[in-house]
Amino acid sequence: MKLFLDSANIKEIEELGSSEYVYGLTTNPTFFYEEGVKSTEEFLSILKDIMPDKEIQLEAMGSVDEILKIARDYVDSPPGTSCEHNIVSKVPFNEEGLEAVSILSKESIKTNVHLVYSVNQAVLAARSGATYVCPLMGRFDDSGQNSSELLGDIKTTFDNYNIETEILAASVRHPDHVKQALLLGVDAITIPYKVFKLMMDHPLTERGTRAFENHTVGQK
Ligand code: G3P
Repeated sequence: MKLFLDSANIKEIEELGSSEYVYGLTTNPTFFYEEGVKSTEEFLSILKDIMPDKEIQLEAMGSVDEILKIARDYVDSPPGTSCEHNIVSKVPFNEEGLEAVSILSKESIKTNVHLVYSVNQAVLAARSGATYVCPLMGRFDDSGQNSSELLGDIKTTFDNYNIETEILAASVRHPDHVKQALLLGVDAITIPYKVFKLMMDHPLTERGTRAFENHTVGQK
């Protein structure tokens, strides 16, 4: 099971990116916009020092040819740039995306088909050769539907047919989303910085630590 940090904020990445429990990083165009990221190569050059050997997921969207060019550039870049990372291209679910994914999968270029909100979409993406499918929990819940049911149905379907495409749960809004995804047996979860921090907390842990500190004499 893989835990990704879902962020493009350098301070957040500097703090958590090198942690053993962080498998990699997922980004999206909104994160890049909010953080003022203008150059992917510049962004990756910063990551090289923080999480050099970890998987980095970057957006590749547009027409079939645009997706193919972006995804190929990520893996064919000259030394010292993105080629030193393990890049996965995030491709929004649509017909062009599925066509591009099917071509990229034959070139062993990893993809994550995201903005997935149904079993049918997940199966079409998997059968197109996607490395990951990415259902968005928070946004699905926001629409009044049940993200745990969606994840469970996708997991059951993939298990029924031994589908190897990995389920990467995203749009995680709180630790209970993480717990639900884990209980349902997804392959990966991408978690915002604030949720990682909340996962660390439990009042009983805090209380116990304080008690031990108060009882620890002469060891400071
Ligand atoms: O990167 C996709 C997803 O994790 C972001 O979801 O709903 O927090 O914008 P959201």
